[in-house]
Amino acid sequence: MAAEKTSDIIARAEMTHELTADEIAGVLGDASTEDELAAAADRVRKRYVGDEVHLRGIIEFSNICRCSCCYCGLRADNGKIDRYRMKPEEILHLAERAKSYGYRTLVLQSGEDMTYSIDVLVPLIRAISGMDMAVTLSLGERSFEEYKAFREAGADRYLLRIETTDKALYQTYDPGMSWENRDRCLRDLKALGYEVGTGNLIGLPGQTLLSIANDILYFKEIDADMIGLGPLVPNGDTPLGEAAPGDLHLVRRVVAMVRLMIPDANIPATTAVETLKPGGRVWFLGSGCNVVMPNVTEGAARAKYALYPGKICINDTPAACRSCMSGQIRAIGRSIASDKGSRCHTYRRGERKDA
Ligand code: 5AD
Ligand code: FES
Repeated sequence: MAAEKTSDIIARAEMTHELTADEIAGVLGDASTEDELAAAADRVRKRYVGDEVHLRGIIEFSNICRCSCCYCGLRADNGKIDRYRMKPEEILHLAERAKSYGYRTLVLQSGEDMTYSIDVLVPLIRAISGMDMAVTLSLGERSFEEYKAFREAGADRYLLRIETTDKALYQTYDPGMSWENRDRCLRDLKALGYEVGTGNLIGLPGQTLLSIANDILYFKEIDADMIGLGPLVPNGDTPLGEAAPGDLHLVRRVVAMVRLMIPDANIPATTAVETLKPGGRVWFLGSGCNVVMPNVTEGAARAKYALYPGKICINDTPAACRSCMSGQIRAIGRSIASDKGSRCHTYRRGERKDA
């Protein structure tokens, strides 16, 4: 029997949302059907999460990190980055400003900076949660007890990319860390009732299509509520400084495939995509994505949180970014959501947004 054509596999995935790792890898490897795949993902996006785009304001409150990931500019071994750490009052002030621009979700992101203990973070989470904003944390690997304390203080969501499910790759590029502990964190977060965001890096040297396919099946297996996918943007101050940038077309195929496989997930059009290609986020909003995370950090910190070079919007104000992004979203016929934008389990419930 002749092998099933890629187009037929895409059509089947659009209906069933189930494929094997080999089938996923086959579709990801076929550049000739990329537009078909993206169009299918755009239809599934419309069907299960609708036309609204969720904006999340992100505060990058510390660039101090105990880890040494080989791709990341915040790595502890990078002596070339100017480090900073915000006081809780400064973070709260930025949160209030984000609220005034219209954000309904605030993402608090930092390196793995353990000075932000339970005692420091709990009052801050309480205060922001009391401002009627969803609180998303992105602080890296912590203990179950810490995650529990943050959750009880009002944190709603947590972002922690698994980066790759290929354990050999993980060991190479995240030295001194344990893949099993990262997986444990994600499962603890789910058990504590967080909406959990994860994702991967695309373009790690040695990464195969099958390994990316397995990442996608992992997102599905842990029932990830949000999935952030981005290309590697080589940072000259890191061991992966000479690597090739991730292939944006491949990233687009991965994003579209994730939408087919997890129809009602929240999927951001990531900043790394825009970094490699101006207009990339809007392109990706038409290829399965439904979230954008503009930076609401102000002052010197805005440039200093440098995971990779070429960070976008470092000279723009948070207010300018919000109106710029809103304009771009309206220009493609989509609207800005006014609610907090939690995951709607439309697929599980058999509902549709376009019915
Ligand atoms: N290029 C692209 N993404 C990166 N990240 C860290 N460094 C880089 C880089 N050089 C991503 C990681 C991390 C997220 C916050 O940023 O996936 O989880
Ligand atoms: Fe920052 Fe457009 S999103 S200026």
